[in-house]
Amino acid sequence: MAQDFEAFKSTIEKEFLGHPVVVDNKYCRWFRQGDFSVAHTRHFVQQFSVFSNLFLIAALNRVINADTLESARESKEILMNELGVIYRKRRADDSRASEEARVAAESATDPALVSTEGTVDGGTFRFPAAHFEWLLKIGEVLGLSFGDMGKRRHGSQSTLFFCDELNRLYGSDDYNAAQGASFAVENWAAAGFWQDLIAGPDSIKKRELPNLPLAFFTFHDKIEGQHREHVWDELRECFSNERFDQKAFVRAGVEMLDGVKVFWDGLYDDAVKAGELEVAVA
Ligand SMILES: [Fe+2]
Repeated sequence: MAQDFEAFKSTIEKEFLGHPVVVDNKYCRWFRQGDFSVAHTRHFVQQFSVFSNLFLIAALNRVINADTLESARESKEILMNELGVIYRKRRADDSRASEEARVAAESATDPALVSTEGTVDGGTFRFPAAHFEWLLKIGEVLGLSFGDMGKRRHGSQSTLFFCDELNRLYGSDDYNAAQGASFAVENWAAAGFWQDLIAGPDSIKKRELPNLPLAFFTFHDKIEGQHREHVWDELRECFSNERFDQKAFVRAGVEMLDGVKVFWDGLYDDAVKAGELEVAVA
């Protein structure tokens, strides 16, 4: 059994951690250099807002389709935090932080200040703590209003493909599809792309958009840093589940990462079409 798990781990390392979107994301590599216009920043934020909002549907389906109450609750932690419930630190986590810092992090709605650890259970709901509202603040600086963001009609074909794959796989009622997709998404997020999404906007902020808020991105980077610690434990748990089917798990994960790749490649193609970057013709 232990040996089987080690073999499964290497399959995962190859298929997920070695997936092109994880090891060779040309959009993020370009984006992190920050050499793009305000118009592209606007396009990027708009497409991201569509993903952010449509993700809520996949996340709710994940709660509904969870196989145990415990995993329904874990999924709900993500969904409710997205919607604006601020994480509240569990008593055991409190010892390091001062009472003052804890209260500040649990009542703030600004992504720069808000708590990145704990549980939504007993946490406070605040409208402005919704991740989508943080994106609206970024949009404001770029001339995007509420009516310009987060709706299906604002999504490009590739963005919508990705969102639909998220719902089909991550939100699936099939145990292996949902677990494989979820594990793949965590690998994708842990691969460090949030840092690219901080670096790019940071340089256009310095250059042209001094009021551009960056905390949406730094908040998510911090959250992902914590997820990364539990990933292998979760995998081991899934591996010992009676419904676990390795082939179906891996297939769904790879399909999910293919969907993620369509999203980033779509943004890359849009940037090329808009003349944002020169592509060497072979
Ligand atoms: Fe979020």
